[in-house]
Amino acid sequence: MRVVARYLGAVACIAALGCGTAQARDWSVIKDSGTIIAATEGAFYPFNYFEGPKLTGFEVEVAEAVAKKLGLKLEWRVVAFDAQLAAIRQDRFDFAIASHGYTAERAKSVDFANPHYCTGGQIAAHKDGPLTVQALKGKTVGVQLATSYADNAKKIGDIGELKTYKADPEVFSALKAKKIDAWISDKWVIKGTLDKNPDSGIVAGEQVFVERVSMILRKNNKELMDQLNHGLAEIMKDGTYAALSQKYFKTDASCH
Ligand code: ARG
Repeated sequence: MRVVARYLGAVACIAALGCGTAQARDWSVIKDSGTIIAATEGAFYPFNYFEGPKLTGFEVEVAEAVAKKLGLKLEWRVVAFDAQLAAIRQDRFDFAIASHGYTAERAKSVDFANPHYCTGGQIAAHKDGPLTVQALKGKTVGVQLATSYADNAKKIGDIGELKTYKADPEVFSALKAKKIDAWISDKWVIKGTLDKNPDSGIVAGEQVFVERVSMILRKNNKELMDQLNHGLAEIMKDGTYAALSQKYFKTDASCH
């Protein structure tokens, strides 16, 4: 009897979380476990960031509201942005929500849910710095590693030098210290950062491209995809999404 119980315990443990080993989780397994595991970065204010020890932000609250609609608890994993695509393919979490804009390149290795916001990449620089694409010619531009900003900056062509950083707060520091001439990031990240640093002398410039941002998950996990899209549709229907969008952006950030 005791042996059987122990055996069942071990099975339950593997089914729920793989007991520390990587384990692909289908919707039925997630549902039975009662907990969905999400990854984010925690350094992309106001989308995902730390307030002291607490992970919060628009995407953190959106994901928690979606999980609630699905009747699940949500457990967070904090993963460096440039490691997330590889980590998802190793099934280290069920989905990531960290402002991934849709690109055909990314779609080769992960699936994208319906977008939870639409946005644009924008230039920021010192007041007398390069604030347009044209003015970036010959200049040193800083971006976060593995982002759509890096891809789009490369396309600009005659940029002087492209410097990549692990996270956006480091790019902002480099810009403040004039180690780079310009920063390309999300327009809301730039706004949020500049609002928090009103004396930086840095301003927002031209918008460079637009993108649709989604949760990403392991390829061909159709049931989980349907559930996440369903949860997102539900919070868009019942006003939860609208309230969060107003809270963080004072406007509707959805892809309407
Ligand atoms: N939206 C950009 C992209 O798709 C940047 C996302 C960066 N996210 C983050 N959590 N730092 O690449």
